[in-house]
Amino acid sequence: MALMPPSLSPVADLSRSSPLSLHFSSISGGNSAPSASPEQFSSLVWGSKLPSSSPFRSQFSVAGRGSDIPHRAGTSVQAAQHWSFHKESRERRGAEAMGSRAGVLETEELEEVSMERQPMLSKAPYVPPSWATHLHAIPSHFYSLAQLPTPIHRWKLPRLPNGTEIFLKRDDLSGMQLSGNKIRKLEFLLADAKAQGADCVITIGGIQSNHCRATAIAARYLNMDCYLILRTNRTLVNEDPGLMGNLLVERLVGAHVELVSKEEYIQLGSIVLGDLMLEKLRAKGRNPYLIPVGGSNSLGTWGYVEAVREIEQQLVQGKVEGISAFDDIVMACGSGGTTAGLALGSHLSTIRAKVHAYAVCDDPEYFYDYVQGLLDGLNAGVNSRDIVQVVNAKGLGYALSTTEELKLVQEVSELTGVILDPVYSGKALNGMLKDMTENPAVWEGRKVLFIHTGGLLGMYDKVNQLGPLISNWERLRIPESFLKNGDGCGKMF
Ligand SMILES: Cc1ncc(COP(=O)(O)O)c(C=O)c1O
Repeated sequence: MALMPPSLSPVADLSRSSPLSLHFSSISGGNSAPSASPEQFSSLVWGSKLPSSSPFRSQFSVAGRGSDIPHRAGTSVQAAQHWSFHKESRERRGAEAMGSRAGVLETEELEEVSMERQPMLSKAPYVPPSWATHLHAIPSHFYSLAQLPTPIHRWKLPRLPNGTEIFLKRDDLSGMQLSGNKIRKLEFLLADAKAQGADCVITIGGIQSNHCRATAIAARYLNMDCYLILRTNRTLVNEDPGLMGNLLVERLVGAHVELVSKEEYIQLGSIVLGDLMLEKLRAKGRNPYLIPVGGSNSLGTWGYVEAVREIEQQLVQGKVEGISAFDDIVMACGSGGTTAGLALGSHLSTIRAKVHAYAVCDDPEYFYDYVQGLLDGLNAGVNSRDIVQVVNAKGLGYALSTTEELKLVQEVSELTGVILDPVYSGKALNGMLKDMTENPAVWEGRKVLFIHTGGLLGMYDKVNQLGPLISNWERLRIPESFLKNGDGCGKMF
């Protein structure tokens, strides 16, 4: 029988000596398996999964590599373990969800329970899909924040290989004021924050981070303050960051914005900066909860494990026009959590589609390793390289758009009505279409599900570049004969 986690869980980066780098919080024991001591569990998690020779220890403790450091999330250990669990067993949670029927429920019953989402903003017990029950640890609860399921529809794109069909999963319509993919992760992360008694959350990202904006909104809905560490240019770090795009929303909901320069971010890394803010808030008597870059730790990964169950259900229930299976799943990869959840879910579920992650920053090797850390944190026992193909799609670099990328965003908007954000899904689609052009035989006849992960507000940053591509306006000329024909409907003016 597998050794189950004890009631204590390491929560931080063992490769660092920060006083905040190791503490323990409560964790669910899972089923009725015996507990391990904290030391045993430590060695179970770090020892066997992350030996000192593991690439994660060195690779992930580096603060940043090169200049494209948008989503450097820290060590894989922290990525994997920065969360806690509660004491209820899975059976009891199932029983609670069924209306406190005592006793052990059958898996099928648990499946039914889990699909019933609670009213918005309420907390509900989480029951994993039957194919994910061997993962651990399993979150005990989640908050109902997103509007789910998000629809899937056909997407008629130009220049596809013969017989290739593309479908679009509209996670850009997941609700919470344009929160996109991030809200799925936050459903679990904020439930954990609340369970730990947090009165505020901290997170970190680029100056136009969608994740930071989504966190600021969701935290406010749940009555928690939000502290954002935003990375910007050295020349702008001492100035009011303005109200462009995501900043307007963050500031409207009262998030506290603190700026750091790219150089400081590279030198210190997101974990140390997060620790700094933790210390600062604790000194003021607050109880903060730190959410890593992009919400991409193993707990956040459940958001997209769960999304796979949603896709599975949509296929089974005939909610996808004309098909019952996908051959491929494609999405943008920025901090790795969405990729890890989709790849693992697709691998474990009946979906079994090939997952292609188009990396908008860093490089594929980085993401194979980072995703591996997330998978190891779930004790998934799979190799990232076996369940996902990571493709470099960063172009000029994170958040830098080529004219070709922006032209594609404009063309797709005009042809299909779907607006992609240039920083994530725009780059991913550009990468996928390039791949299809270069290797049509690989994609011919395949049914591809592209995940639109949101990020519309990032578009404001590109207004100057997009402007020259959009010239569809003119002054309405009113013929003389019409000038005397007023209909009275303009009276209000
Ligand atoms: C709009 C959008 N799409 C995709 C991603 C990538 O998701 P992940 O960070 O989970 O890799 C992000 C965040 O990084 C995002 O903001």
